[in-house]
Formats: sequence, structure tokens, C-alpha cells
Amino acid sequence: MPIVGNWASDVAYIDCLAGPWESVDPDFQDTSFAQAIDVLIEARDLLAQRGKSPTMRCLLIERDGASFDKLKKYSEKTSGVEILPRNWDVAAHIPDVVRFAKERRNSFPFIFLDPKGWETLEIDLISPILALDPGEVLITFMTSFIARFLTDETKRFDRLFGADLPRLVTLQGEEREEELVHSYVNMVRRAGKFQYVCSLPVMKSNQDAFQFHMIYGTRHPRGIEVFKATEKNVIPFMHQARAKAQHRRRLEHSGQLTMLDPEAQYRERKFTRFRLKHLEIAKCELRRMLESSGQVLFDDAWAAVMQHSTVMEGDLAQWLNEWKTTGLLRITNDLGRKCLEKSKTNIWSGVGIKTSQQRPRIGMSHLPSF
Ligand SMILES: C[S@@+](CC[C@H](N)C(=O)[O-])C[C@H]1O[C@@H](n2cnc3c(N)ncnc32)[C@H](O)[C@@H]1O
Repeated sequence: MPIVGNWASDVAYIDCLAGPWESVDPDFQDTSFAQAIDVLIEARDLLAQRGKSPTMRCLLIERDGASFDKLKKYSEKTSGVEILPRNWDVAAHIPDVVRFAKERRNSFPFIFLDPKGWETLEIDLISPILALDPGEVLITFMTSFIARFLTDETKRFDRLFGADLPRLVTLQGEEREEELVHSYVNMVRRAGKFQYVCSLPVMKSNQDAFQFHMIYGTRHPRGIEVFKATEKNVIPFMHQARAKAQHRRRLEHSGQLTMLDPEAQYRERKFTRFRLKHLEIAKCELRRMLESSGQVLFDDAWAAVMQHSTVMEGDLAQWLNEWKTTGLLRITNDLGRKCLEKSKTNIWSGVGIKTSQQRPRIGMSHLPSF
């Protein structure tokens, strides 16, 4: 919001499945809509200091009557942004969502879809929302639920995966899980003509398993930067929360207090395995990019690898250094050399990739032996 608010005359937060759901806080501070509105208010104050004052609007949609009553009460007592709560079945109101997004000139809509299941994620249904340009989308993809029920024909996953379903049902375990996300990410990318789509797995608190993936579509590299910065904060937070949950369970089972802190006893294998695999996939993709063209712009290399879950700027810097040191890679301009030198001690920070206008156009070319 502080980024798009620099140029937009209006920003619109649209929560298509707003809840509240399983909220225990009387002020709903544990809900996505309340947190989003806090972010809007914070961004409004920040933008005001820069002399910018875009209007800020929210459309909060909820089908369930009891939840909607709470949503409406929250909306009535919240000030600072315009809030339009609607007791709609979003599936029947997609044109209204699009109308709301386009109602004002020079507006930037941010769409959030956080379903309990998957029905409202059918691409044909949400395509008009994904296609809003400018605009961005954040989707909760219930991976564990979808993977578990994929072969249940009554659940009609053909509507979600279309022609890809027969391939997906032949896969098992982690491969199925990963391909489901991959398939859906590609559909989101195509339907929204998003240049960049990032995803991030979120683990179950009580099992070494993924619960859902967050999928984020953007048309600007700044979007990737923000998503990756969030990823960097969220991953340690998730592991800390799981460590505490494991600690509590151990205490309940054994009844014995331990001197070791929860993080020292923390166990997980799934996430580490996932990260190692995705590092390898991203590195191979970058190698292929370099091998198939004479020169690759740093921006393109960066955007390609950053779209892989859990892959960070430091990983990219490490690969480039490794290839450069072993003589497989040549950096073709001065700016590039400067970046690489810096990355040895201080991974990319201060290099300028934080500001898109000044983003260095670094060329890389591979030697024949690559
Ligand atoms: C997982 S919850 C969202 C939770 C919310 N993000 C929060 O932080 O509280 C999904 C919500 O979508 C609502 N819902 C389900 N299908 C819907 C539909 N077709 N249209 C509108 N709302 C729907 C459910 O009643 C539920 O409150």
C-alpha cells in the first residue's frame, strides 16, 4: 500500500471471503479484514507524510448470515477508511466486485481470497478478478485438503484443475501436493496475465506437513520484493510457533518440565526438504536461462529465481559467486562486478535493487564450458 499509494488516486482492499471465522478476539484483531484495515490506516498516515492522499476503500464480502452480522458491526464502528460490507455469495457477484474495483479512476485493487475449501477458487469463476490490471491477488490454497480429496469425484476437482486433473490424480504424496500448487499457480498466472506469481507453504502446527500455500500474483518486481521480505519474516515466526506448540504437547504428554527451550528441541523435516528441493529447481532454472541465451539481465535472473518458494537473494548471490569463481560465469558490466564483489560480504544489500528505477541492468554471459 505505501508503494502503490505513491501513484494511485485510490486503493481498494477486497476481501472476497471475509469471515470472521473462528475469531476469538472481541475486536476481531485476529481476522484478515481487521489486520488489512490496520495496514491501510498505517499506510494512509505514512503517505500523508509524503504529501499523498489516495482514497482508501474496502469491500468485505461474507455469505454466512451470523458472520456477516459481526462483520457489519465491525465495519460500523471502524473509521478511517470507507468500508462496504456485503452479505453476498461472492460466486454470484463477481461482476459487482469488478465494478467496485473500477469505480474510481486510477485505482489499485488488492484482492484477497481466503476460502475454507476450494470452490470459490475456480479459475473460470474468478478470472475477471484476476484480470484486473492494475491489481494484485493473494490466495489461500488449501493444499492438504485438496491433495487428500483429489480422487473423490463428488468433490468435482475437474472444475478446479480442468484438463490437468487426470495427470494430477496419478501422482502421490509430496509430488502430488507440489504439482497441485504448480498447476494452480500456472492457471493464476495465465488468467491474470501476471508476470510474477510467488507461493509460500504454511505448515500445520501439530504435524510435519503443509496445511496451505499462499499464492500471490503481481505484475511488478516490487511486488516480489515485498512478498519475499514477508516470507523472510514469516518463516522463522512459523517455526517458532510450531516449536512452542510441540513443547506444549510434550509437557501435556509427559507432565515433566524441561530445561531446554522449545527451539532447541524443535523437530521438522518437511520444510527443510522442500527448501533444498526448491533451491535445486531454481538453480537449475537459472542455469538453463544462462545456457540458452548469450546474455541474461540481472533483473530477469533475479525475478525468475525469486518466484521459487523459500529461495532468497542470498541464495542467488551465492550461486553467481560460485559460478564466477569457478570460471563458468562472466559478468559483463562494471555494475555487475560491483554487485558481485559486494555480495561476498554483504548479500546484495545496498546494491540498489530495492528501488526499481535504479535497478541495475546487469548482463551475465556464460562461457562455452558452462
Ligand atoms: C476461511 S474463512 C475466512 C476467514 C477470514 N479470512 C478471517 O480472517 O476471519 C472463509 C469465509 O468465507 C465465507 N464464505 C464461504 N463461501 C462463500 C461465498 N461463496 N461467498 C462469500 N463468503 C463465503 C465463509 O462463511 C467463511 O466465513
